[in-house]
Amino acid sequence: MSRVAIVTGGTRGIGEAISLALKEQGMTVIAIYAGNDQKAQEFTERTGIAARKWDVGDHQACLDGCAAVEAEFGPVDVLVNNAGITRDGVLQKMSFDDWNEVIRVNLGGCFNMAKAVFPGMRDRKWGRIVNIGSINGQAGQYGQVNYAAAKSGIHGFTKALAQEGAKYGVTVNALAPGYIDTDMVAAVPAPVLEKIVAKIPVGRLGHAPEIARGVAFLCGEDAGFVTGATLSINGGQHMY
Ligand code: CAA
Repeated sequence: MSRVAIVTGGTRGIGEAISLALKEQGMTVIAIYAGNDQKAQEFTERTGIAARKWDVGDHQACLDGCAAVEAEFGPVDVLVNNAGITRDGVLQKMSFDDWNEVIRVNLGGCFNMAKAVFPGMRDRKWGRIVNIGSINGQAGQYGQVNYAAAKSGIHGFTKALAQEGAKYGVTVNALAPGYIDTDMVAAVPAPVLEKIVAKIPVGRLGHAPEIARGVAFLCGEDAGFVTGATLSINGGQHMY
């Protein structure tokens, strides 16, 4: 029986690599995206993985979207909350909208998606939820009070839900990437990024498949004793 997995933000960047890694593990993967129809269509043509569109920050859209996915593909066994956005800026320049949108999508999205699929996992006594946090949620980052707060919140959310899922066979873990060579990181001004890379002991940006490998491990049949954990994959940039 093929496990059904949802990956949010699953058509591009780290999310695309996660979608592919779970497919390679034999799962039926559905990638959720919010914006770029053309990129999503190209993704499906390239990978054979279905893509569905909704805003993970919209509570009702998540409930309706997940119900439609379950009607089409069967009960969802695996959820990877990967969708995330940045609206960087120092506090003085950050608008309330920049704050709110990042919290709504990055942190609210985890709640909305878990609300949709966690009850079924609990009833069926098997589930895997992996929330993508960030080194910047662990260590903070200049110019990112919104993003750091949302990602930090994801780490707390993970440990709380892990306690609720444990006796029902539902594991909930976080994976905290460092700086990975995605469009999101490419948007950081070059001189700023150079200084950041200079502080990575491994001496380079990470690659999306290096994150996906960790997610695939946490979603495995044999990972049932790993819950409430944070797997940091950051080239040694932040160790704790
Ligand atoms: N610590 C202390 N001071 C810093 C600093 C730091 N890390 N970074 C910048 N400053 C200082 C600068 O030296 C400068 O000081 P002076 O005016 O005295 O010279 C001042 O702050 C203003 O810096 P900027 O010119 O950079 O200010 P800005 O308003 O043009 O830009 C910013 C601010 C948008 C936050 C920009 O610095 C930036 O983009 N920083 C990178 C933020 C970042 O790392 N984002 C990660 C995105 S990827 C991601 O989030 C994925 C993930 O999970 C890892």
